[in-house]
Amino acid sequence: MSDNLRGLSMQSVLIRQIPSLGEGHVRIQGWVIHLRSSGKLIFIEVRDGTGVIQCIVYRGDVDDDTFNSAKHLTLETSVSIEGVIRRDKRSKIGFELGATHISVISAPFEEYPISPKEHGVSFLLDNRHLWIRSSRQVAILRIRATIITAIRTFLDGQGFILFDTPIFTPTSCEGTTTLFETEYFDERAYLTQSGQLYAEAGAMALGRVYSFGPTFRSEKSKTRRHLTEFWMVEPEAAFFDLAQDMELAERLVVHIVGTVLEHHRADLEHLERDINALEKVQLPFPRISYDEAVELLRKSNVPFHWGDDFGGDEETVISQSFDRPVMIHRYPAVMKAFYMKNDPMRPEVALCVDMLAPEGYGEIVGGGQREDDFTHLHEKIIAHGLAVEPFKWYLDLRKFGSVPHAGFGLGLERTVAWICGLKHVRETIPFPRLMDRIRP
Ligand code: 4AD
Ligand code: MG
Repeated sequence: MSDNLRGLSMQSVLIRQIPSLGEGHVRIQGWVIHLRSSGKLIFIEVRDGTGVIQCIVYRGDVDDDTFNSAKHLTLETSVSIEGVIRRDKRSKIGFELGATHISVISAPFEEYPISPKEHGVSFLLDNRHLWIRSSRQVAILRIRATIITAIRTFLDGQGFILFDTPIFTPTSCEGTTTLFETEYFDERAYLTQSGQLYAEAGAMALGRVYSFGPTFRSEKSKTRRHLTEFWMVEPEAAFFDLAQDMELAERLVVHIVGTVLEHHRADLEHLERDINALEKVQLPFPRISYDEAVELLRKSNVPFHWGDDFGGDEETVISQSFDRPVMIHRYPAVMKAFYMKNDPMRPEVALCVDMLAPEGYGEIVGGGQREDDFTHLHEKIIAHGLAVEPFKWYLDLRKFGSVPHAGFGLGLERTVAWICGLKHVRETIPFPRLMDRIRP
């Protein structure tokens, strides 16, 4: 709060600013979230998105109209309250507001449907437009916004240029089984599954780029880790190999967690997140090969066949062996996407990496080194049963000055779920899109 605002008693302030403003006369604007009265006193808790403050209406301090209207306030009424900020040891923010004037901006026509009592998830999702007002949801969405900024700040600082990739695409990137199809005038188009192929073109133009936007998968999976619309950041760098790619991924994740710890202690505490576990997210992250991961599963008495992909249960067992994210590299090439480069030392495995978050949160990063040889890539497109024609432009990148390059995709919602300690990704995005839900 700047000093020149301090003099203007009726200037409205954000609740977040009150501790630094200190005692004085102010006006706040917000919504009523809790009411209690005892004789001559009425206690009104008000939230404004930046914080919560308790306002106390004392009969002797206000006129009859204000006292009576305060008494009849209901939940989620929008209000403007003037009063005096006073220090209060019992308050979470250290201050309370002694109200001198209350004006109602708008009173609800009906009883607010969300109460502090338990509601079913389906009811809450139906009312997502209101549910996001709850303090837990506000904390999560604030952390999400910080994570987005942290990602951009980190990559910008490493010389990566933001490179926006298209959402309407003519081909698949991550397999044809999870494509959302749409009409595009006289053609068929698909919603992008990943900006990677375009980011590769960007890396050949700008050196280091990243795309960051919504991606779509018509995954028929109703798990706690799957959304049909999710956000992904995808850095891509020319002249990077797998080792450099892994280094970038671990440093990005350490930066994200560090930034959230620095700015959101109170939000994490409100979410009852184990902060100790997050503080362990330090460099370097363990790196194990797919083979070593299979070995680890077998030692944990989880039967596993070399060549299969890890499911949620296997990922949980592996990640629980480490106190920080673990990077698994060199999966069998047959189970990975067509664009992955095979390890020249061991062609049956791909130069790829998945990062699993700790505490059983599963895969948050997938990426690796790209096939940079024209002939090999051409063969792989065919071997994957894809039509070559739509990938002609992508093959061009291997025709004109091809270089080794690598990148990865970090799923924003899974990262938010892990850092906030949430059971399900549905709370990590303002309006989740799930297999069985596109409303509100
Ligand atoms: O592992 P994926 O499929 O990798 C790619 O899309 C690459 N083209 C990325 C690249 O190399 N540029 O997806 C990357 C990440 C996953 O690790 C996961 O965090 C997230 O995206 N993700 C999902 N998040 C929520 N719901 C889904 N259905 C997701 N599918 C993938
Ligand atoms: Mg993956």
